[in-house]
Amino acid sequence: MKENFTVLGIESTCDETSAAVLRGGKELLSNVVYSQIDEHKKYHGVVPELASRAHAAKIAAVIETALGDYKIDCVAFASGPGLPGGLMVGRVAAETLAAFKGVPLIGVNHLEGHLFACEFEENRVCRPLEFPLVALVVSGGNTELLYVKDYGVYKELGRTRDDAAGEAFDKVAKLLGLPYPGGPQVSKQALAGNKNAVPFPRPLLPGTWDFSFSGIKTAVSYYLRDHQNVSVPDVCASFETAVVETLVTKTIKAALKYKVKQIAVGGGVAGNTLLRQMMEEKGREAGLTVRFVERKLSSDNAAMIALAAYKKLQRAQSAGKEPEWNININPNMKVRTWR
Ligand code: KG4
Repeated sequence: MKENFTVLGIESTCDETSAAVLRGGKELLSNVVYSQIDEHKKYHGVVPELASRAHAAKIAAVIETALGDYKIDCVAFASGPGLPGGLMVGRVAAETLAAFKGVPLIGVNHLEGHLFACEFEENRVCRPLEFPLVALVVSGGNTELLYVKDYGVYKELGRTRDDAAGEAFDKVAKLLGLPYPGGPQVSKQALAGNKNAVPFPRPLLPGTWDFSFSGIKTAVSYYLRDHQNVSVPDVCASFETAVVETLVTKTIKAALKYKVKQIAVGGGVAGNTLLRQMMEEKGREAGLTVRFVERKLSSDNAAMIALAAYKKLQRAQSAGKEPEWNININPNMKVRTWR
């Protein structure tokens, strides 16, 4: 492939249909995101069958808008982890477009996209991550702690054993009668609440880097069952603090244990203000720099998929190797080191 090649990225792993064009691994020419929130709102969560149908209905128009008249050298799509139906729609669209344009097709890991998205600033990829680092990818479907030695060189430290952090926010919002997606709603309510009002547990799971958030969610449901006239802001502030403290404590501990200087935080929950503040503060105290994804690119988007593909292709090219095209979809895909 020529130097400074242009990638069209496609994202359809959950409830956002997105396409983006990235030139030279730096310049984001377009990033179109169709969010299915309205389709899933009344169910307080993503309904997989509805998500697949909405991806199928919107993906052509989203790609057409993002592509415009840009010339592309490669098509990339998120091949996992994610909902099977959405992944299939993304792959078929990507494969058809690549065949039509006569360009190669590459599958990339959605979680790597969330990680590399931390390099974007104002539609440009301008601040490289500083390796080795510890990454926290925290979204509605995943909560993952990684040691990242370099681009494409990983060790998975831990992941959630049950609910992802964003999923716990969404479920607690539902218990409280707040709209979907729950994360921003819970956060908003928490601003007016007392974080010490209810002592929800901090599931630190000593001896492992894994997470578990279903216990906090159950503690909230028992609290609501057993108390009358609860203060919604107090419950939100206490719950948010319990989740954020758990995420921050484990991430900082892992960063110190693995002797890195930087932490990167990506994924939808990275938009949470308390998480940003607490990670920043505790990171500074521990002598670590913290890189967050920009808020507008924290939720699922195709810009991050195009960037992950660029990194993968560029690395293979500079090593004089054939890249791993890897276009099989895998709903449970793990992050693993590039060959
Ligand atoms: O990354 P994302 O768009 O989708 C997945 O790949 O899952 O993340 C969506 C998740 C939802 O669970 C949403 O409630 C959560 O991110 N979220 C937040 C905030 N903004 C979005 N959670 C906590 N605080 C927020 N401010």
